[in-house]
Amino acid sequence: MSSTLVGISPTPVEVPPVVHNLAGRLRPVATVVPVWRNEYGGFTARLEDSARLEDRTNAPGRTTPRAAGRSSYLKWVPHGSACPDPFAEADRLVWAGSFAPLPRVLDVGRNRYGSWLLTEAVERDGAIATSAIEPRWRSLAKRSAIAIGLGLRQLHDLLPVDTCSFVRTAELRVAALTRSAAVALCGTPLGDPPSVDRLVVCHGDATVPNTLLDRAGRFVAHVDVGDLGVADRWSDIAVTTRSVTRRYGPGLEPLVLAAYGVAPDPVRTRYYRALWDAEEAVRVRRVAQRAEPRYPDPNGRGHLRRAS
Ligand SMILES: Nc1ncnc2c1ncn2[C@@H]1O[C@H](COP(=O)(O)OP(=O)(O)O)[C@@H](O)[C@H]1O
Ligand SMILES: [Mg+2]
Repeated sequence: MSSTLVGISPTPVEVPPVVHNLAGRLRPVATVVPVWRNEYGGFTARLEDSARLEDRTNAPGRTTPRAAGRSSYLKWVPHGSACPDPFAEADRLVWAGSFAPLPRVLDVGRNRYGSWLLTEAVERDGAIATSAIEPRWRSLAKRSAIAIGLGLRQLHDLLPVDTCSFVRTAELRVAALTRSAAVALCGTPLGDPPSVDRLVVCHGDATVPNTLLDRAGRFVAHVDVGDLGVADRWSDIAVTTRSVTRRYGPGLEPLVLAAYGVAPDPVRTRYYRALWDAEEAVRVRRVAQRAEPRYPDPNGRGHLRRAS
């Protein structure tokens, strides 16, 4: 989904009341800092312990007080949104988090307005890891592209296919598209999926914004794994290389592929990008058809499930 996400940091944006209310119930003393808003109504805020306010991220040369509790990230998704369900993401985080670096789930729930996922802030050396989309990493594009390629390879190497119950093969994705009559939306027919190069547990949205780096620009962790599942590794690689090129600029694809450790594969790359675009067309259509306001009136209660 990242190609149409709207990053809001560092622009100040108001936290919608529905998110603010929820944050107040989940973390009553925290300061709520807007971080990210996607085009499907999803909104992410960082809930900061007040003792940490001097340094919110891993800006070089700054220190972070360690005495206070960890900050957390609250992702709120309205009902009917085209974003993956926070409960599906929580299930994947809990499973995959025992093998690979991913945020720890603190809470997941649903009320009459939407669903949410609360995760612990990912830290490295006492500082919160930041998204590779942050401007400072864009200005170090080559280094960041390599870190992203290395991070993707690490994820694919660490997650065990045999015990993964989440599946996201091209066949399943095409079947879902066909059910929604969306293949017609993408213009050119997708054709048959290419043969599988290597089955791995794919991230599902392995883009620049979903990759976290430490203060030196090294890979730390991934976020946003609501679409994680077993698939050909090219379904991730094709999306990652395109995201790096779109976000940082042209010419970086070879660096990502070399860091990952794979030769270019134009056929699979083309196929998985086209499949992604077809799914994107469905999401965009769903957003256009939504009648409800983006951020509903916040008086909801109804906590359904607390993660351990
Ligand atoms: N646990 C976390 N630790 C650090 N940063 C996080 C964490 N969770 C989310 N983020 C930040 O918030 C952004 C939005 O979260 P994400 O789950 O990707 O939402 P969306 O589904 O809207 O893309 C991420 O790109 C990342 O910068
Ligand atoms: Mg994301």
